[in-house]
Amino acid sequence: MSKLGDRIFQKVLRTFSPILPWREPEILKAYDELVDVLIKQNKSRIFIVMDEGLVQLKLHQPLLDALKNKQLNYYVFSDITANPTTAQVEEGLLAYIIYGGDAIIGFGGGSPMDVAKAIAARVARPRKNLKQLGGLLKVRKKTPLLIAVPTTSGTGSEATVASIVVDERTKHKYAINDPVLIPSYALLVPTLTFKLPKFVTAMTGMDALTHAIEAYTNKGGRKFPNEKAINATRLVFENLKVAYDNPSDLEARKNMQLAAYDAGVAFTRNYVGYVHALSHPLSAYYGLAHGYVNALILPFMLEKYGRRIYRKLARLARLSGVVEEGLSNGETAKLFIAKIRALNTYFEIPTTIPEIKEEDIPQLAVYANKEARPLYPTPRIYKTSELEEFYRELKGEILNVETN
Ligand SMILES: NC(=O)c1ccc[n+]([C@@H]2O[C@H](COP(=O)([O-])OP(=O)(O)OC[C@H]3O[C@@H](n4cnc5c(N)ncnc54)[C@H](O)[C@@H]3O)[C@@H](O)[C@H]2O)c1
Ligand SMILES: [Fe+2]
Repeated sequence: MSKLGDRIFQKVLRTFSPILPWREPEILKAYDELVDVLIKQNKSRIFIVMDEGLVQLKLHQPLLDALKNKQLNYYVFSDITANPTTAQVEEGLLAYIIYGGDAIIGFGGGSPMDVAKAIAARVARPRKNLKQLGGLLKVRKKTPLLIAVPTTSGTGSEATVASIVVDERTKHKYAINDPVLIPSYALLVPTLTFKLPKFVTAMTGMDALTHAIEAYTNKGGRKFPNEKAINATRLVFENLKVAYDNPSDLEARKNMQLAAYDAGVAFTRNYVGYVHALSHPLSAYYGLAHGYVNALILPFMLEKYGRRIYRKLARLARLSGVVEEGLSNGETAKLFIAKIRALNTYFEIPTTIPEIKEEDIPQLAVYANKEARPLYPTPRIYKTSELEEFYRELKGEILNVETN
């Protein structure tokens, strides 16, 4: 499709967007509330998706206790990794069927929540494989009751239409996007995030910031997602360093949970952009953590967009209180980007990705292009060859050449 074709596609999508069945999850604050929901909906065989690290930490013990108290049956499936694969989803689906589950809880960071959502999609569409469900609006059928319990404050998956999985054969990381995958309930317990390793706190928080900024700087953002993006940006700048330095600061953890949620609501309506499109293939190829790669690419990509986003970026910076009034749009935008770089420096996130292999770059760029076009209403549209150059710059080669 040509660039013009992309823009027409995005405009049509934007026009029809208000009639999509948007909703937000109902927010729960306590395990007992969650159990009440299950009982009211006559659910008694609860399938819980987690990862092994969380099981070891026993973070889910209060949930299991609450279920046991009411004699609800549960099964914990934890055979998944970060950047979960389609094979892991299929294993989970099989376990769900054999167990005879009637509700699915995604308990964890984006990885377990996304596996829970993908299993739900497969239950709804048993005759379609995940690849066929990839893209936009391919599920369109009622899923089992889906509940999310986020334990990182980053992806916002508890509020989004997306489930993101890696095809382990082709190393393609892609999204299944459908409003039926917005969980019906999200249990938000900020103390769950107290034990996050410092670095995971930082990079998942930067993922939330990336969602907010990409959604806001994309074309055609409506008032509601824009307000959510502004709020998320403000919350990240006010709280992420505090949560990083003092992991048990309840206020900061609560605010970061809200930031991730709001950023999720923003980007699920106005999409992400090239930061995510470039980052997903890198996670799939080199196992790099999602938030880490996003944090690193975010200022790089904002500089690439350049003048095209000065006005919007300046507006976001001012409205979120990150940069004071009084400077020109260009100065404000540059200062905003400098502040993002300063956050990355504070969190010891580097500026290059030496893991990138030259021979992989053509395919990485093909995947990045496939993700971004025509779906994401990015401020600029790039050719695949330009994306290849971005990967080379991110690898650090071009920077090295310049400094030599
Ligand atoms: N569905 C969406 O809308 C959406 C949006 C953005 C990203 N994602 C996807 O989400 C995934 C990334 O999720 P993530 O960044 O939350 O990381 P993650 O779920 O992969 O978890 C990262 C690590 O943190 C550990 N961890 C999680 N919570 C913890 C806690 N409370 N205490 C201690 N350790 C904890 C996990 O065990 C794991 O080792 C990627 O696959 C990404 O593509 C999805
Ligand atoms: Fe993300």
